[in-house]
Amino acid sequence: MAAVPFDQLDGDIWMNGAFVPWADAKIHVLTHGLHYASSVFEGERAYGGRIFKLTEHSERLVESARILGFEIPYTVAEIDDACNKTLVRQGFTDAYVRPVAWRGSEMMGVSAQKNRINLAIAVWEWPSYFDPAEKLKGIRLDMAEYRRPDPATAPSKSKAAGLYMICTISKHAAEAKGYADALMLDWRGRVAEATGANVFFVKDGELHTPVPDCFLDGITRRTVIDLAKRRGLTVNERVIMPEEMAGFEQCFLTGTAAEVTPVSEIGPYSFAVGEIARTLMADYEAEVMPATAVAAE
Ligand SMILES: Cc1ncc(COP(=O)(O)O)c(C=O)c1O
Repeated sequence: MAAVPFDQLDGDIWMNGAFVPWADAKIHVLTHGLHYASSVFEGERAYGGRIFKLTEHSERLVESARILGFEIPYTVAEIDDACNKTLVRQGFTDAYVRPVAWRGSEMMGVSAQKNRINLAIAVWEWPSYFDPAEKLKGIRLDMAEYRRPDPATAPSKSKAAGLYMICTISKHAAEAKGYADALMLDWRGRVAEATGANVFFVKDGELHTPVPDCFLDGITRRTVIDLAKRRGLTVNERVIMPEEMAGFEQCFLTGTAAEVTPVSEIGPYSFAVGEIARTLMADYEAEVMPATAVAAE
């Protein structure tokens, strides 16, 4: 069954301060964000009617734009409010929330000093990033050809659209070989992250995860570190070389979309879907759910 294209979903999209019908939320082909990747975005999830860690996401969106040299013309509180209103308007309690900000069409060259800064927020139903059955078995990852760039080469702390070019190439190459995703090394050849999620390993009852010095320090990553510490687990944030994967017992990915997803294979290395991965998966599920679920209007 062919999925409905994303430009043909139902409902309204919040665009520059007002709701517009889904099909009318359009941009012109001569948009700076499209040609020069002057665009930043967020990926958020609502559970039981509440957007998990909404303010952290809105703050990161504003900061991502600043790193790219532009100021979103709304405050963090206004962005939070617009996300919540869009969720309510769409009538979902469990959904994916996508704010995106970009430079418009007033100037069309590398320089875009006078371009309008636009902000849109779309909300749609989106159950699981990885196939739920595969998720419990552990997903398989290939090694990506591309590496996370040196922060001296690209604004790696920004959730900028341009940084996803190498992620899409890497994920497509992995999928063509039957894998669910790809693990990217960084420019120094150290383990970095998957194409849209952070990575953790387990060895001798302790967690190991790379230092996020050239890739996103995910909100889910930080949440899972807290949850692990609450369980009394030791979390080692450190440099991880790819050969070390031979000695790790378990592995999982974390991300707003991926949530906590166990990994069974990365290239030549195999992992068990073990107790710690399963426990943190369940702890994360409990953490994201508000104490009192908010009903859809
Ligand atoms: C490249 C990349 N790394 C990591 C993450 C995880 O970030 P978060 O947990 O904030 O969703 C994401 C998802 O946004 C991502 O796209």
